[in-house]
Parts: sequence; structure tokens; C-alpha cells
Amino acid sequence: MAQQDAVTLLEDDHIQVERLFAQYKSAGDATAKRMLTQRICHELSVHTRIEEEIFYPAFRQATGNDALLQDAEREHREARELIAKLEAKQVDDRVMLELEGAIAHHIGDERQKMFPQARKTRGLDLLQLGQQLEQRKSELLAGHPA
Ligand SMILES: [Fe+2]
Ligand SMILES: [Fe+2]
Repeated sequence: MAQQDAVTLLEDDHIQVERLFAQYKSAGDATAKRMLTQRICHELSVHTRIEEEIFYPAFRQATGNDALLQDAEREHREARELIAKLEAKQVDDRVMLELEGAIAHHIGDERQKMFPQARKTRGLDLLQLGQQLEQRKSELLAGHPA
């Protein structure tokens, strides 16, 4: 597989989840909505986790931009609460819409503020971080979180 740098890998996840939200909106029946709900929750859980374990600490160390990270971490906590609600209810259009709005805002911040700063910051090895993210992501997706 061609090697992706950290920002490209994370942004690919963002695009993927935006697609899943759009699919949810056009899903016709409860079975499709349930499957998409599971998939959205799982992908977002893995994504926020690899950011928190690998990307955010490296970004914090290299930039010292604590304010931006505190916002991002708060938004992850809010997303996790909505994900927990969805996992409990299986299908809930209202909560899904709330999650979509929260994630759209959060992705916007990463896309417009965090990622451009990461690209400009010397001392942040985005290729090496990309490798770490990729590896951790496959572990988590395979269901071996340890
Ligand atoms: Fe992200
Ligand atoms: Fe994030």
C-alpha cells in the first residue's frame, strides 16, 4: 500500500464518515439505518482514538497549541456521548443528526486549523505518524485493541 502521511490518512477517514452520514440520510429502512449506525459509530470510535493516542500528543508536543487541542478533546467527548446513545438505541434519527452536526463542526476545525498548522510545523514527522496511525487503526479495526 502506498504510504500515507498522517494528515492524508485522517482526512480520508473524515471523507469516509461524511459519505456514511450521507448514506444514512438516504437509507430507506431500519435495517440499513441500523447497519450504518453501527458502522459510523465504529469508524468514529477508531478515528477519535487513534487521534488521541497518536496524532494529538505529537501535535501538542510540536506546536504547544493547547487551546486548539482542548477544544478538539472536548468535541471528541461530546461525540462519544452521542455515539453511546446511538449504540444503546441502535437507530435514532434525531441523535444521528446531532452527531452529524457535531462531527461536521469538529472536522471543519481539524481541516481548517489543525491540519494546516500540522503541515507547517517543523519537527512533526507526518510520514512516520501516518505509519503509526495506520498500524494502530488496523489493530483496532481487526478488533484487537490491546
Ligand atoms: Fe479527525
Ligand atoms: Fe478529531
